[in-house]
Amino acid sequence: MQVVKYMFQPHGDERGQLVSLEEINDIPFKIKRVYFMYDTLKGVVRGRHAHKNLEQILFCVHGSCKVKLDNGSESKIVPLEKPYEGLYIPGNMWREMFDFSEDAVLMVLASEIYNESDYIRDYDVFLNHVNMKGNEIDEQNTRSI
Ligand code: TYD
Repeated sequence: MQVVKYMFQPHGDERGQLVSLEEINDIPFKIKRVYFMYDTLKGVVRGRHAHKNLEQILFCVHGSCKVKLDNGSESKIVPLEKPYEGLYIPGNMWREMFDFSEDAVLMVLASEIYNESDYIRDYDVFLNHVNMKGNEIDEQNTRSI
């Protein structure tokens, strides 16, 4: 399973650091929404859902956390520890964010506005969804042979 983590170049000088994120040039989708989480309590696991179509990039702009990504057949745990690291999450990917440091601020850039109907919040429903998607792709490949 391929995980895409962008490492953005901080513009550092003697005053400190600055990271700039430009739609299209740096972020591979139109940014329709930005949200962030902070004051996350110890031991909390956030997320625990997938999106059908939404694309996102997650930045832990302060502190640290971990993200578990699961495509239905494989999973990976990705630490986010630097403010210039952006973790890309495509559609049809189960995600769980955990191990938040006390000072963690997790900022998310999203390709769509909030839409509850794009969420899959039940893991078994997610597995059925990705299996069905897999079969659709197999069928398309079979047809084109
Ligand atoms: P929730 O989906 O539980 O966050 P997560 O699963 O990523 O940990 O969202 C918490 C609340 O915030 C919930 O009432 C929905 C609301 N919300 C918005 O209004 N807009 C948003 O963009 C998001 C992500 C959540």
